[in-house]
Amino acid sequence: MKNTKRNRRNFIKLSGLTGASLVGADLISLASGKDANPESDNIEQSKRHNQKVNMSGYAAPRIETVGIGFIGLGRGLTHVSTTSLLEGVEIKGLCDLLPDKISRAKKRLEGSGFNPQIYTGNEDAWKEMCNRDDIDLIYIATPWDLHAPMAVYAMEHNKHVAIEVPAALTIDECWQLVETSEKTRKHCMMVENTCYSEFELLTLNLARQGFFGDIVHCEGAYIHPLMDLIFNKNVWDMWRLKASIGEIGNLYPTHGLGPVCQVLDINRGDKMDFMVSVSGKDFQKNQRAKELAEKDEVYRQYVDKPYNGNMNTSIIRTAKGRTIMLQYDITSSNVYSRIHRISGTKAAALGWPRPARISVGHKWLTTEEFESVKKKYEPPIIKKLGEISKEVGGHDGADFLMNWRLIDCLRNGLPLDQDCYDAASWSSIVPLSKQSVASRSGSVEIPDFTNGAWKENHPVDLSLGQGGTTMLRN
Ligand SMILES: NC(=O)c1ccc[n+]([C@@H]2O[C@H](COP(=O)([O-])OP(=O)(O)OC[C@H]3O[C@@H](n4cnc5c(N)ncnc54)[C@H](O)[C@@H]3O)[C@@H](O)[C@H]2O)c1
Repeated sequence: MKNTKRNRRNFIKLSGLTGASLVGADLISLASGKDANPESDNIEQSKRHNQKVNMSGYAAPRIETVGIGFIGLGRGLTHVSTTSLLEGVEIKGLCDLLPDKISRAKKRLEGSGFNPQIYTGNEDAWKEMCNRDDIDLIYIATPWDLHAPMAVYAMEHNKHVAIEVPAALTIDECWQLVETSEKTRKHCMMVENTCYSEFELLTLNLARQGFFGDIVHCEGAYIHPLMDLIFNKNVWDMWRLKASIGEIGNLYPTHGLGPVCQVLDINRGDKMDFMVSVSGKDFQKNQRAKELAEKDEVYRQYVDKPYNGNMNTSIIRTAKGRTIMLQYDITSSNVYSRIHRISGTKAAALGWPRPARISVGHKWLTTEEFESVKKKYEPPIIKKLGEISKEVGGHDGADFLMNWRLIDCLRNGLPLDQDCYDAASWSSIVPLSKQSVASRSGSVEIPDFTNGAWKENHPVDLSLGQGGTTMLRN
């Protein structure tokens, strides 16, 4: 049985907005008709929310052994692999619709001693896993539109959740995550792994130590040519391709945004205030669909669709008067980049395209100077686990560091580095960029998901605090 909400969304995207007359047309004017006055809705929703418990800095009771269930075993397999290396973890359930994904995960766990129950066969099988009493944490690595409904259900059933990026697709879903996390006192972490990349962690520490002076501007991006993946007919339900039809904006903002929000102490001393967003048109996806349709019938339904544009650029202003530039392009021919520019009154950093660099004044540091800064400001988590994380791999070790830190915090009863407010505000750029694009790049307000608590919340704790006790399993 197909998920009806999902089918309805896809139906609207595939049929309601189609037709050759729309192709190459101004999708911006098409989008303008979609929401009457979305910005006032954003503000109204914020006004209705009263923070129940402040989940920023919230520490849940310690869990000696963290029982985990995984939904979605594509990207989810990395989370299975990295958590399975840690002591104090019990892998209890694996859920996916596809038998080969389950077999791969089971194979990966061979010899680990874990014997998880399998949940499959229908689109709601994951609910049975969430209903169990002996699972503490649910990882969600399914297509985007399932993240928030699954996370809300899991939290309602007494589970902490680790959600892949982006955590939510609408402002309403963002609020649902915040409200459910506060109501249930369950952690709602969007597992933004780029926050655990070595250079991003270094710049966070540099920012904390005042190396950059006052930080005035940051840039982030997801520039990653993914045409082959988007058009791969073996991807479940071809969800990546469907997601880019009839949607005009930044559909994947958090890889670039997460680390710069941590550098700027967003939701913890500053907040994102408003934004504008500009999208160009699609130059490639319709062309690719046509080429593929000539050889393979499957692709015929994807010809002449209103695809998201190649490039989206958004600019955000914070309450403290800093700016963030964010870009998204998954089709054009480019070298992979998340930019990660930190621009301060005393120094600056630029992460991508590689090599990562730091400048003081108007000069890049030499290799020797760069290495000496790196050594002096090495964050505690890199000191402790930098080498192991490189051996384990997974986005240069970031996946391992992130999952180690998450499990270590749960086992030691520590607050998590990313909370429901981060999940909501970083993900909110998806719908807000669409709203701005739809109004010919008008300014839209970014909801304050912390309800004013951002003024007092503490920055992410870079020390390992009372934690750092979780070791690798023998
Ligand atoms: N952080 C990162 O670096 C990173 C990298 C890749 C993907 N992702 C994110 O991970 C998520 C998944 O992406 P992916 O590349 O693994 O996609 P994928 O298509 O490879 O995997 C998604 C899986 O979800 C399963 N699924 C769909 N509906 C389900 C349901 N109702 N119940 C159980 N399983 C269901 C599918 O069968 C599929 O195996 C996305 O949110 C994506 O953005 C993040």
